[in-house]
Amino acid sequence: MPATVAVGSQFGDEGKGKIIDFLADRADVVVRFQGGANAGHTVQVGEDLYAFHLLPSGVLRKRTMNLIGNGVVVEPAQLLKEIDETRERGHPVKNLRISDRAHVVMPYHKILDALEEKLKGNLGAGTTLRGIGPVFEDKVGRFGIRMCDLIDPETLRAKLRAIVPIKQRLIEAYGGDERLDAEAIFTEYAAHGERLAPFVIDTSAWLDSALRRGKRILFEGAQGTHLCIDHGVYPFGTSSDCVAGAASVGAGVGPQFLTDILGVAKAFTSRVGAGPFPTELEGPIAEHLRERGGGEYGTTTRRPRRVGWIDLVMLRMSVRVNGLTALALTKLDVLGGLDRVRACVAYRSDGETVKEFPASMRVLSQCGPVYRDFKGWPEFSEGDWIGIAKKGRRALPETTRKFVAFIESQLKIPVRIVSVGRSRAATIGR
Ligand code: IMP
Repeated sequence: MPATVAVGSQFGDEGKGKIIDFLADRADVVVRFQGGANAGHTVQVGEDLYAFHLLPSGVLRKRTMNLIGNGVVVEPAQLLKEIDETRERGHPVKNLRISDRAHVVMPYHKILDALEEKLKGNLGAGTTLRGIGPVFEDKVGRFGIRMCDLIDPETLRAKLRAIVPIKQRLIEAYGGDERLDAEAIFTEYAAHGERLAPFVIDTSAWLDSALRRGKRILFEGAQGTHLCIDHGVYPFGTSSDCVAGAASVGAGVGPQFLTDILGVAKAFTSRVGAGPFPTELEGPIAEHLRERGGGEYGTTTRRPRRVGWIDLVMLRMSVRVNGLTALALTKLDVLGGLDRVRACVAYRSDGETVKEFPASMRVLSQCGPVYRDFKGWPEFSEGDWIGIAKKGRRALPETTRKFVAFIESQLKIPVRIVSVGRSRAATIGR
């Protein structure tokens, strides 16, 4: 600290929620800066599990302020639902502010997301159907509605009158039969705006003042580097920039504040959605990873995740494009029970060694993994890990320490945090 950025280094779902919750303990402010309700962050407090899509992970901590930055796309009904549910569970959610520049997901975005996915065929990303692609299309196309419009009924009505007929024509052109009613959308969204208005501020100005007062800020990434619109597996990723630099743009702070950049990576690889996946596994080991991984199912869509060995080609690229200064390695316990574990160090394609992650999905789909094998830690079962975590890093089995040291040597950054279970207690920090 003062400012730490935590980003996913793989395909999202790296266990960021838990790591961010661990870091939030020392933060004064937690900031979301990209993505939207497509994200799913699971936080466990005691026996209670919370699954957030839009609320920043520090919201359960009374003394921590939580910001939703301008780079996030806000689905008002979903955000209100999360606020209401969190309040019902005893947390007042007074510690939330939303950027007046954040774009709003409208009902036609979700309709268009589904229609576009259907029409795209093999180019479909298997989206979360939260309207993410279409809302970012509107942001760039300057058709967007922002939070400052949502809370201003006159502007909202005027914008909807202009935009809705255009979206109606698009829906019809795509073969959809949904009918949009600008006035009905206005009534529903103006009501959401009224409820959200007390949270809406200029979050960039607020953050600037907090940074200058030495407050410790944690920027909470959503999705992951390889889903990033610029650096990810295009077109099978998401529509926002997911890398650390996006924290500057998506929160409205200068890049000079972003000096501590933590990548979160699983000890294996997983993803939901479509696209090439060089280390993907099927069969008993895949089942083991999925089931031991606490049920590898998407937090937002509940789809079973595709799983494979850790891919250091992907992670080396993540170190580079994010400027990672350290790694948090999650779910090391999930590899327990296996006699042998593997790490992909390069790809082979057409008899050539490939060391950099390719841009072309055609090239990537022809890449096969080159593995380094490690002795596993089959003797350690789920019950052992809390005790190990309590004793700290040196109590980790030697086999796991060798695996972690190899990752550090390949990525040339330290593994600062190791997570060996879902709970806060199962976290070993440095
Ligand atoms: P979209 O973001 O809903 O447009 O989905 C695009 C792709 O990103 C799909 O493959 C989704 O499964 C994936 N995706 C989006 N958000 C997340 C996330 O938070 N974790 C993991 N995958 C995600």
